[in-house]
Amino acid sequence: MKREQFSSSLGFILAAAGSAVGIGNLVAFPVMASKNGGAAFLIIYAIFVFFVCLPVMLAEMSLGRHTRQNPLGAYTEIGQNRAWRTVGWLSVITPFMIGVFYLVITVWIAGYLGKAMMGQLDLLADPAGFDVFINSNELFVYMAIVVGLTFLILQGGVKKGIEKATTVLMPTLFVMLIALVVYVLTLDNAMLGVKFFLVPDFSKINGNVLNGALAQAFFSLSLAMGILITYGSYIQKNNNIVSAGKMVAALSLLVACCSGLLILPAAFSFNPDIEISELSESSIGMIFMFLPKIFLALQADIGYFGASFIASFFFLLVFFAAMTSLVSIIEVPVASIMDGKGLSRRKALYSLGGAMIVLAMISALSFGRVDWLSNILSYGGNPKSFFALIYDMFYETILPLNGLLLCLFVIYRWKKQNLDAEMIEGNPGFAGSFLQKYVNFSLGTFIPVILAIIFVNTVLTIYF
Ligand code: PHE
Repeated sequence: MKREQFSSSLGFILAAAGSAVGIGNLVAFPVMASKNGGAAFLIIYAIFVFFVCLPVMLAEMSLGRHTRQNPLGAYTEIGQNRAWRTVGWLSVITPFMIGVFYLVITVWIAGYLGKAMMGQLDLLADPAGFDVFINSNELFVYMAIVVGLTFLILQGGVKKGIEKATTVLMPTLFVMLIALVVYVLTLDNAMLGVKFFLVPDFSKINGNVLNGALAQAFFSLSLAMGILITYGSYIQKNNNIVSAGKMVAALSLLVACCSGLLILPAAFSFNPDIEISELSESSIGMIFMFLPKIFLALQADIGYFGASFIASFFFLLVFFAAMTSLVSIIEVPVASIMDGKGLSRRKALYSLGGAMIVLAMISALSFGRVDWLSNILSYGGNPKSFFALIYDMFYETILPLNGLLLCLFVIYRWKKQNLDAEMIEGNPGFAGSFLQKYVNFSLGTFIPVILAIIFVNTVLTIYF
C-alpha cells in the first residue's frame, strides 16, 4: 500500500508545529525565563533552538522521509543489527509511555476547560480543588472525551485527520494567543510583567540554567520521541525539509515568546508586588493553581461572564495545543503497528488505544486513590507514584538518551552523505551551504556530548 503523505510542505509544518507547541511553550517556558534572567534566558534558549535542536530535527525528518518508516522500522532497516533494533524499540515505547502521561494532563486541561465554560471559577481557584478533581470520577468522563477526539483525528489518517485538524487548530491557536496577549497587555500593571520578562539579567545564568534551557528546548520541539521521524515519513520528496524545519523551530519559539507576554503581565496585573518566587515552579502548578486565581480575581473587574469567558478562552487555547501534541505522539506507535504488523489504521488504533487507556487510568488512580499505585517505587529519597515514575523514566531520562543515540545512528551508521542527500532532495541550493556543513559537524561531535551531559546530570539528580 502506498504510504500516506501530507498534501504540502505547509501541511507538514503545521502538523509538526502542532506537535511542538504544547504546555512546554505556553507555560513552562515563561516561568523558566522569568526566573532565570528574562531576556538573557530567551537569547540562550533561542541559540539552543537553532544551533542544537534544529540539526537534530533535520536529522529526524530526513531519516523518516528516506526510510518512509516509523522509528522502529527506520532503525531496523538501516541499523541491520539487534542493538539498533533495540534502540528502535526504545523510540516507540518512549512516545507510547509519554503519550500516556500527556493524555492524563490533557484530560485535566479538558476538565478545567469544562469547568471554566460552566462558570465554576471559584471551584477552579480553590487551592484544594485540583487534588479533588484529579481524584474524582468526573475525570473519567473527560478522559472519554479526550480519547474520543484523539481517535477521531487519528482515524482520519495523515491528510484527512492529522493535517486537517492541525490546519484548523494551529492558526486558530495563533489568533487566540495574540488576542489574549493584546487583552492582557491592556490590564493595569501589565508592563511590570513585560519588563520582568524582557529585561536581561545575565548574572542568573549558570550551569543548571543552561542544562534546564537546553532540556526544555529539546523537549519542546518534540525531539527524540520518534514524532519527527514518523511525520517525516509522510513528507513528499519535492518538499524542502530544511526550510520546513526552520519554520517549525521559529514558530515554536515565537509561541514561547508570546506566552511570556501573556503569563507574566497577567501575574503582575493580578499582584504588582508579586515576588517571582511566588510563581509556581511547575507548569502544572501554574495552569491549575496559579492562573485560576487570576481568573477569579478578574471577576471583580469584568464581571462573572467576562471572567468565565477569558478563563474558557485560555483553557481552550491550552487544550488545542495539548491535543495537537497528543495526536502527534500517539501517531508514532500507531504507525509502528501499521507498518510492522500490516494492520489497518483503525485496528492499530484500537489495539493500541486500549492499552493506553488502561495505563492512563492506572496513572489517574495513582494520585492518592490507590495506595500502592501512589507509592510504587522510592528513589532519590522520595516515594513516587506510577505517574511520576513514567514521567521521570521516559520524559526526563530516556529522552536525552534517545536523542544521543539518534545523532550517533544518523552520522555513524546511516552516514553523513545519506543525510546530506536527503536534505538536498527538494532543496538543491542546500548543497555546500554553511548549514549543511554545520548540521553534519554538530551531529557527529558536540551535540551527542551535550546530550550525554544532560542524561548523566538528570540521572544523578533524579535517582540519587
Ligand atoms: N512539545 C510539547 C510541549 O511543549 C511536548 C510534547 C510533544 C509532549 C508531543 C508530548 C507530545 O508540551
